[in-house]
Amino acid sequence: KVLVLDFGSQYAQLIARRVREQHVFCEIVRHDLPASRVRELAPMGIILSGGPSSVYDSDAPRCDPGLFDLGIPVLGICYGMQLTCSTLGADVKPVEEREFGRAELHVVDQDSLFGGVPEDMTVWMSHGDQVQGINGDFIALARTATCPNAAVRHRTRPIFGLQFHPEVHHTPYGAKLLHNFLHECCGCSGAWKIDSFLEEETSRLRKQVGTGRVICGLSGGVDSSVTAALLTRAISDQLTCIFVDNGLLRRGERDQVDQMFRGHFKTDLRVVDASEIFLQRLAGVDDPQKKREIIGHTFIDVFRKEAETIEDARFLAQGTLYPDVIESGTKGDGPAATIKAHHNVGGLPAELGFDLVEPLRDLFKDEVRRLGEALGLPEQLVWRHPFPGPGLAVRCLGSVSDDRLETLRHADAIFMEELHQHDLYREMGQAFAVLLPVRSVGVMGDGRTYEHVIALRAVTTTDFMTADWAVIDPAVVGKISTRIINEVRGVNRVVYDVSTKPPATIEWE
Ligand code: XMP
Repeated sequence: KVLVLDFGSQYAQLIARRVREQHVFCEIVRHDLPASRVRELAPMGIILSGGPSSVYDSDAPRCDPGLFDLGIPVLGICYGMQLTCSTLGADVKPVEEREFGRAELHVVDQDSLFGGVPEDMTVWMSHGDQVQGINGDFIALARTATCPNAAVRHRTRPIFGLQFHPEVHHTPYGAKLLHNFLHECCGCSGAWKIDSFLEEETSRLRKQVGTGRVICGLSGGVDSSVTAALLTRAISDQLTCIFVDNGLLRRGERDQVDQMFRGHFKTDLRVVDASEIFLQRLAGVDDPQKKREIIGHTFIDVFRKEAETIEDARFLAQGTLYPDVIESGTKGDGPAATIKAHHNVGGLPAELGFDLVEPLRDLFKDEVRRLGEALGLPEQLVWRHPFPGPGLAVRCLGSVSDDRLETLRHADAIFMEELHQHDLYREMGQAFAVLLPVRSVGVMGDGRTYEHVIALRAVTTTDFMTADWAVIDPAVVGKISTRIINEVRGVNRVVYDVSTKPPATIEWE
């Protein structure tokens, strides 16, 4: 495996993903992990990420200098390079002309790191400091017009530095450089694949739970479905899944989960129909945060009650992903302390008293999807758009009622059907219908109508932090609109949302 030391870079996760794309397992760790601990972990290589600091700042994050004496290959990227070089005696200074964006790199030494790449290539730079004087210990491998040491290697040790970012798309040969570092310099075999993860995780799960019983909350989303499928494969006889129908689901959702898990996987699945209690508690509530709170609490009540009926349940499985783990870890004191806090926000409280089983906690979302495919989950489920925990309640603006939900459900189903029909679903990060809390005037036949308005929201996004509205062929939008107005009783107008995030959010509430 390879360790990525995180110096606060927005790119640390991206580096980790790029490494895994080279079929090398990789973990993000704190920047100040002691060298003794690194030695115990015995990685094949270490990558130091970029970061917003300057090495000469007094509070700049540093790594244990002992890291460079372990004989393990090191690649410093941007700030990571500056830190590496300055720790080993080179001079780092602010540059007169800061470099942001594309730069032309000229390779002067086609040593192992630059093997197989052209002499001149485009790279992505983003720095205000750079390594100026390399003393006798480093050799420059490449330069740009303003950066004489855009890539360096140590004369005697397997230590490399890149001032530019090989992990971003804008560095077209970046993947090749990472490949060279991992395979040529570190000697990684590149055997890490999702199939091997599946085998290893299956035996790890069996060991972790022994003969204990595991409960898994199934929502129908990708993460919980893959978790449940993986557990079914590993310990099917000891698994009970709970699916809570909160009455805020999309059309057909409950049946799909039922067919997939009870029907296909033969999982012990309990479907709890709690829609009445959810809708009762939501009646007349129109504040979005209040709705979320009610739904969150009611979910815990219902889940707890059902879980109590499962004898000798000891473990609770959750679909926590690696980005959640990293986020909890870097924001707080350390991973272990803050992961719990994270669960309390989105999921079930720790007081339920179970030991946690989190089989996906080392994976990124795209890896979870591949795992889902390897486990035999259907494409439709594996590539499902995210669906918020509070479900249709936050897409039924204003107060929620059975009638309004049914209107929304119908319109949303038509929208999804058309997106699938036109092969557009996979192009969107998320797409859904929203029922607005206003009435609009229309005309049908000889009479005027005063009916509901449906908004269509479709976005393209990679991380859901920023998003652009999706451009859909007007003919397709037109067809969706016509179908909704003709087929959904009580709707006389359809609008299309053309707002980006930020400043708008993806959801309307
Ligand atoms: P926004 O609307 O903030 O959404 O741009 C970003 C992503 O988060 C989802 N979302 C939620 N998920 N509970 C959830 O589990 C919520 O309360 C919630 N609110 C928004 C949203 O669907 C999008 O994927």
